[in-house]
Amino acid sequence: MEKNSKIYIAGHHGMVGSAIVRKLESDGYTNFVFRTSTELDLRDQHATTDFFATEKPEYVFLAAAKVGGILANKEQKGEYFYDNAMIEMNVIHNAYINGAKKLLFLGSSCIYPRLAKQPIREDYLMTGKLEETNDAYAVAKIAGIQMCKSYYEQYGFQSISVMPCNLFGPGDNFDPRSSHVLPALLRKVVEAKERGDQEIMMWGTGEPKREFLYVDDVADACVFLMNSEIKNDIFNIGRGEDIKIRDLLLLICEVVGYTGKIAHDLSKPDGTPRKLLDVDKIHSLGWTHKVDLQEGIEKMYTWYLSHKSD
Ligand SMILES: NC(=O)c1ccc[n+]([C@@H]2O[C@H](COP(=O)([O-])OP(=O)(O)OC[C@H]3O[C@@H](n4cnc5c(N)ncnc54)[C@H](OP(=O)(O)O)[C@@H]3O)[C@@H](O)[C@H]2O)c1
Repeated sequence: MEKNSKIYIAGHHGMVGSAIVRKLESDGYTNFVFRTSTELDLRDQHATTDFFATEKPEYVFLAAAKVGGILANKEQKGEYFYDNAMIEMNVIHNAYINGAKKLLFLGSSCIYPRLAKQPIREDYLMTGKLEETNDAYAVAKIAGIQMCKSYYEQYGFQSISVMPCNLFGPGDNFDPRSSHVLPALLRKVVEAKERGDQEIMMWGTGEPKREFLYVDDVADACVFLMNSEIKNDIFNIGRGEDIKIRDLLLLICEVVGYTGKIAHDLSKPDGTPRKLLDVDKIHSLGWTHKVDLQEGIEKMYTWYLSHKSD
């Protein structure tokens, strides 16, 4: 990308999209195109076609999606499938039709089989059954990856699909009905501390292991890959290290300064037992994460304290 290239960040208000904007701005890029979902509903084929025909962005970061935690994914499978599939089809197709030079598609590690060998390599995609709680979301994301691959193979349209592990950071969703595990736990601990609760209840056993990456690191990887010579591929993005959810909760308690006990609500699902990405492929290009887990949680806690009453 040139510093004045026209760059469209779809989902620029979201956690990942806003981190990509921060990264691009700090690197000196100046020519952005933004639309909120109210201004442009990317599920709408005609509106998306008109937008791309008018703006003709040279580079597209596709970070717009319907995103949520276990419960929302399980209860709204139809919406998760339709919204994500429509956004991907409309954006990728119109980027190609209007001559975009390259597109970066944000996927998710839930595209891999539930019982994939660990750590999960990119080539394990479509080698086994998906986790049932978010299979609709995962299949919609797999369709996006396949579309990027097919448009490169048939038309030479350049795109990279990235599969980040669980992300967290400024702009995260703290709504208990739809949030991911880390912001959900952080909010729980902050509120338990404020109320002076003796005990905190966590969902499930706390035994499953997950990998977490600070969102500015994924933005850094996205810009790095957009600027690489790679014309079409898929990359895992993570820290290459996982942690038990219970240990994550203990770490959050330490950062927040909460000293109560931990209890378990075993009626809630655990989800996939383990999810650790193999990040050798992106490491081999010279990229690695910069923010460690505790530092990321500290930054997120500071951000949450100043935004929780917004
Ligand atoms: N969060 C994670 O842990 C995580 C992990 C791995 C991968 N990812 C991937 O990263 C991407 C972004 O996730 P995120 O966490 O940044 O999500 P987010 O904070 O919920 O942001 C999603 C963005 O998508 C936009 N959007 C949703 N529906 C739209 C529509 N119909 N038309 C136009 N825009 C629409 C929203 O725009 P408005 O704000 O204008 O409504 C919002 O800014 C997703 O593809 C997700 O799968 C996220």
